[in-house]
Amino acid sequence: MHRGQLFLTLWVIVKSTSGEDCISRPHLNVVEGEPFYLKCCPFSSAQRNKTATPRWCRSNQSHKCAELNLSTSPRITLRKDILEFWPVELEDQGSYTCYLGHETRKWMINVTRRDKHSCFTEKQVKSKTVGVTKSLQITCNNNYYKELIHRTALYKDCEKISKSNLSYLKPILKKAEFKDQGYYSCVFSLLRNGKLYNITDTLNITILRERSDVIPVVLGPQLTRIEVELGEDVELNCSALLNKNDYLYWNFQKEEGLHLNVHQDNKIPPWTAEGKTYASKILRIQKVTESNLNFLYNCTVVNAGTTDTKSFILLRKVDTADIPGHVFTGGMIAAIVVSVAVLCLGVVCVIYRVDLALCYRRWMGRDETLTDGKAYDAFVSYLREYRPEHGEEYTFAVETLPMALEKHFGYKLCIFERDVLPGGAVVDEIHSLIKKSRRLIIVLSKSYMSNEVRYELESGLHEALVERKIKIILIQLAPVSDFTFLPQSLKLLKSRTVLQWKAEESLSSHNSRFWKNLLYLMPAKVIKPDKGGAEGLPVLAEVS
Ligand SMILES: *[C@@H]1O[C@H](CO)[C@@H](O)[C@H](O)[C@H]1NC(C)=O
Ligand SMILES: *[C@@H]1O[C@H](CO)[C@@H](O)[C@H](O)[C@H]1NC(C)=O
Ligand SMILES: *[C@@H]1O[C@H](CO)[C@@H](O)[C@H](O)[C@H]1NC(C)=O
Ligand SMILES: *[C@@H]1O[C@H](CO)[C@@H](O)[C@H](O)[C@H]1NC(C)=O
Ligand SMILES: *[C@@H]1O[C@H](CO)[C@@H](O)[C@H](O)[C@H]1NC(C)=O
Repeated sequence: MHRGQLFLTLWVIVKSTSGEDCISRPHLNVVEGEPFYLKCCPFSSAQRNKTATPRWCRSNQSHKCAELNLSTSPRITLRKDILEFWPVELEDQGSYTCYLGHETRKWMINVTRRDKHSCFTEKQVKSKTVGVTKSLQITCNNNYYKELIHRTALYKDCEKISKSNLSYLKPILKKAEFKDQGYYSCVFSLLRNGKLYNITDTLNITILRERSDVIPVVLGPQLTRIEVELGEDVELNCSALLNKNDYLYWNFQKEEGLHLNVHQDNKIPPWTAEGKTYASKILRIQKVTESNLNFLYNCTVVNAGTTDTKSFILLRKVDTADIPGHVFTGGMIAAIVVSVAVLCLGVVCVIYRVDLALCYRRWMGRDETLTDGKAYDAFVSYLREYRPEHGEEYTFAVETLPMALEKHFGYKLCIFERDVLPGGAVVDEIHSLIKKSRRLIIVLSKSYMSNEVRYELESGLHEALVERKIKIILIQLAPVSDFTFLPQSLKLLKSRTVLQWKAEESLSSHNSRFWKNLLYLMPAKVIKPDKGGAEGLPVLAEVS
């Protein structure tokens, strides 16, 4: 048995104190074969008459009280004012009265048969309850017979747990646990006149759960799984609902050389929330190794009555848990790269859309001029009357444009000066030529809107806007800041881009931006190889 862990209250089995051996209870249970005494005590000690000797009488089954004749019964003796039985027997049962002066005192004595099968007699048992974790003290002490006690022994549930050759036994003092519950019997052996008598005092001890006690539980699920990576530091937090003095601890088998990296933190003082007491204990695992994985770390809370255990287990973090992260960031990067690429491509496409379109035409060998039944790829409209101030426009329309578009790119232009025979119905002629053309190239100049050209423009605009059969290409040689001279309807054209002629740059190469832009606006046509002597051919022959 553990001794002296905590001691809060004392509890003494045998309470008889010196001086007062008086028994005031009117009903007494005694066991046959045990010494017994009755002391005739006065009600008030002030009236005590030391010299007076009491008279005793006994009555059986409500008969008249008959004076005790002590001489006939050697077992019963009178010592001063005390009636002693050595020992009491079944026949002694009855009511006893003592007279002292004018006072009387009466007891009902019930003698019970000794239980042959037990070390104690149930009727003699006194009961006591002790709160769990409270201090439990068991003392065997008998004051009245102190002088005669020869031996003392203590039994728990009739098994001897300690004994002594003295009148008293070293008291048992401990923190009450549920297993302490039981019958505690003190057996005093008295030696009188060479004869041994036994007195047995039995206490029925019941260990009670304190009303304020809670059943301690470790919080959380029965098994807590924690995913870790090797080398990581881990803290396991075990918390419990408990009573102040309950014990919370981590337990796991410490195998040789293993778990050296595992440490229990010192106790954190318990705290109270909503009248309940909680405590927690941290288990620190430094730099998790393989041996820490898949191992049960148990956390247990104990008190006198119950224990509760919850387990923790470390598992290796599953790799697939990481992949989505990589995939995620990878995917993000890929998406960004792709978007940037698409954006760049878009920008490039916008910048080089003309080149790309031309490339595409060349690549596909597209030719939209074959089936529309038109004779010319473009009708060139320009200020026809030659004046020195716009000589540049004239040269451009009559020489530069045909040189490039016809000789180099293989288009067929309709140039009034060259292709229209003088005389005849000029207006009708122009109208029909425009109708036979796929584009109307207008070479802009300040004085372009002269009467002569106006008809061409209006006819072209009609074709372009109303019949949607011709597209208009505007070419500007000298920078023109103000286009108000153009008719309003021209502004309705969907893509009214004006190609800007840059003399040096545009002349130097057929690959310059101007020509590319112009080609882009011109109908798609398979470029035929440079027709060497085409320049001087009378184009008129092809008309009709
Ligand atoms: C005590 O008892 C004796 C005889 O019984 C009697 O004579 C005496 O008066 C008593 N004394 C008191 C104080 O009662
Ligand atoms: C002892 O105590 C227990 C619990 O209080 C009770 O059930 C039992 O009857 C008692 N025994 C005797 C003999 O009084
Ligand atoms: C008294 O008790 C002791 C054990 O303590 C036992 O051996 C003995 O027989 C008992 N004697 C009587 C008279 O009951
Ligand atoms: C452990 O857990 C309890 C309850 O969840 C919490 O109150 C406490 O602060 C934790 N302790 C540590 C050191 O994390
Ligand atoms: C830990 O708890 C589990 C389940 O409660 C039990 O099977 C195991 O034996 C315990 N381990 C230790 C070392 O107490």
